[in-house]
Amino acid sequence: MRRPLVAGNWKMNGTRASVAELIEALCQQELSPGVEVVVFPSSLHLTQVVEELEGRSIAVGAQDCSSEVGFGALTGEESASQLVDAGCKWVLVGHSERRLILGESDDVVSKKFVAALECGMAPVLCLGETLEQRQSGQTLEVVGRQLARVIAEAGIAAFKKAVVAYEPVWAIGSGLTATPQQAQQVHAAIREQLAREDQRIAEGVRVLYGGSVKAENASELFGMSDIDGGLIGGASLKANDFGAICRAAGN
Ligand code: 13P
Repeated sequence: MRRPLVAGNWKMNGTRASVAELIEALCQQELSPGVEVVVFPSSLHLTQVVEELEGRSIAVGAQDCSSEVGFGALTGEESASQLVDAGCKWVLVGHSERRLILGESDDVVSKKFVAALECGMAPVLCLGETLEQRQSGQTLEVVGRQLARVIAEAGIAAFKKAVVAYEPVWAIGSGLTATPQQAQQVHAAIREQLAREDQRIAEGVRVLYGGSVKAENASELFGMSDIDGGLIGGASLKANDFGAICRAAGN
């Protein structure tokens, strides 16, 4: 049995004051112990969130890390080593906003994935196709290629600790959600690709869905056999909505 995971990606949002309010409201949510919950604040607020969630059952992760580990001359970057020191247990790698807006390549994404694991963090590897790619029937090929690059760089054993998130680009922030069947098809393909390397590891890997998940559509998505939780953007900024999504993952 895979333990459901719900992750809140706060993206480039929040001030010290609004983050404090959000945490306070999150701490009042009833969360089911069967569901693992992680939030990903901006790096500016990581220390604050780690401190304010101390002793709570919500873990903290970073939205990105450098492909270089340790310390050194790399202006503006944050290494996985530093993020671990700040109290992060998780890190997102390869979010489509970084791939498409900031030009992050499959190569860079796979190096970040390895760097995170090397420092003891669990990476959440984000994969997904654009609308154009879906409409031209390339979804499975695109997602398969993104995943293959990471398997080649990190090895299949790396997936004992990693999580995969399928986030169709056209569903992110658009209000358009993949249907449970559309998502399930891609999730099953991801698991099959991992199973071709190692069946046992593939069965244990959690594959999250992301893209306009809301309290109203979460249960149906999480009811699919290969959907093990969600990576939530907009709705993770509202404690009541995020709490409801977390509870849906526990049912
Ligand atoms: P939305 O939930 O706002 O569509 O964002 C999804 C996402 O990109 C999470 O990483």
